[in-house]
Amino acid sequence: MLSAQERAQVAQVWDLIAGHEESFGAELLLRLFTVYPSTKVYFKHLGFCPDETQLLTHGQRMLEAVGVAVRHMDNLRAALSPLADLHAQVLRVDPSNFPLLIQCFQVVLASHLQGEFTVEMQAAWDKFLTGVSVVLTEKYR
Ligand code: HEM
Repeated sequence: MLSAQERAQVAQVWDLIAGHEESFGAELLLRLFTVYPSTKVYFKHLGFCPDETQLLTHGQRMLEAVGVAVRHMDNLRAALSPLADLHAQVLRVDPSNFPLLIQCFQVVLASHLQGEFTVEMQAAWDKFLTGVSVVLTEKYR
């Protein structure tokens, strides 16, 4: 559960990203696939080296879903339910991949926002993205 201050910090950072979902998302995926190549196993249909269009398309979808989560911080479970079904029951993404994505997400934020991305914001985003991951992986049980 995020405090009021943590929610405000998540929203503040999202305001800086909103409108740039495609480029942030593509960079996030590129980092994920490069730093943790094992994650590519889930994206075999994109080919061994996904091209830029594929990264942009999927990156945008992924970041738009994060935007939905930001707007529904109080009700993540309901807001992300179809996405949780997809990741758990259809894609069967192992939950161990989510912390890798969270780490890359924070590096993308830090490299773009630099000093604007404060330690408190990182802590709030870590907690928020962990909450999103819990919801996206809990249907395995
Ligand atoms: C598909 C979001 C984590 C693998 C998707 C879609 C969204 C999404 C919105 C598209 C759904 C649709 O087409 O209806 C997210 C979010 C994540 C997350 C918000 C975490 C914060 C992960 C992780 C992996 C993964 C960690 C694996 C390493 C996939 C795959 C697809 C997918 C393989 C299908 C791609 C395709 O159809 O081309 N995800 N995802 N996701 N996700 Fe995730």
